[in-house]
Amino acid sequence: MEYIKLNSGEQMPIVGTGTNTYGKENNQYRGKLNGDFTVLEDAIDLGYRSIDAAVSYSNEAGVGETLAKSKISREDFFITSKLPINDEYISTKDAVRKTINNSLKNFHTDYLDLYLIHHPIENKEYFKQTWEVFEEYYKNGKLKSIGVSNFDEELLNEMKKFATVKPAVNQIPINLKEPNQELIELLKSMEITPVAWGPMDASGEQIEALTEIGKAYNKSWAQVLLRYQIQRGIVVIPKSHNKNNQAANLDLFNFELSEEDVNKVSHL
Ligand SMILES: NC(=O)c1ccc[n+]([C@@H]2O[C@H](COP(=O)([O-])OP(=O)(O)OC[C@H]3O[C@@H](n4cnc5c(N)ncnc54)[C@H](OP(=O)(O)O)[C@@H]3O)[C@@H](O)[C@H]2O)c1
Repeated sequence: MEYIKLNSGEQMPIVGTGTNTYGKENNQYRGKLNGDFTVLEDAIDLGYRSIDAAVSYSNEAGVGETLAKSKISREDFFITSKLPINDEYISTKDAVRKTINNSLKNFHTDYLDLYLIHHPIENKEYFKQTWEVFEEYYKNGKLKSIGVSNFDEELLNEMKKFATVKPAVNQIPINLKEPNQELIELLKSMEITPVAWGPMDASGEQIEALTEIGKAYNKSWAQVLLRYQIQRGIVVIPKSHNKNNQAANLDLFNFELSEEDVNKVSHL
């Protein structure tokens, strides 16, 4: 595994697993919880240590329970969760504290590695007070790093007015259909690490082209795509319900794409 040093000083694994459909019927995002986290157990067995969760996925308790029951010690995991932005979670500082405390409880832990505001908060007062609570938990060590998700340039600038701690990451869609290149460059210039959600999204044509590139390395289209992202300093959190695909998505550290191939992928 390779790691990226966040602006908080913490090391984040460059590959993690998403969890948004785990423990749910038919592997559907809105599926009923069924308590079956075998797929997450498989991921942990394969070596995944960075786990991307969220309160709004409704399965945080099951994800936390699975991690707590594994043979892996707490400090070997890098656990991310996210605060939803519905009023009930953000309208008072105590509401924010209650949600963070509940996440800590769900993960049977006294600290989380990373906590994000899941989506932009439009109400400026709520936004400011939410970040103030994040900073409070950052300073007391219960949140090792704090960050945001789905934020654009305007919001990142808005934050500068009140933030005394810069977000460590911005988790945004980054894939071949939505490359988000300008925002990635801005984040890098601000020393905010880009984390790619939905990293596997690609058209049939793009998959064919990636497959072609992969032949020289004996790697699949998915591995070429993920390698392309990590090779340029982007954290990826692909999610899979297939153990072979989960294994493939971790098997990225024994090849390097040539400059020519990086250039090809960037133009797909
Ligand atoms: N911050 C946000 O607002 C936000 C939004 C969306 C998602 N997320 C996070 O990002 C994570 C990842 O995003 P995502 O779940 O939307 O999509 P994703 O990881 O980009 O794609 C998942 C799909 O890719 C397939 N796949 C994975 N590895 C593969 C491989 N090696 N070869 C072929 N197919 C492969 C999976 O199928 P199989 O199961 O068949 O392998 C699945 O259908 C989520 O789980 C969640 O934690 C965050």
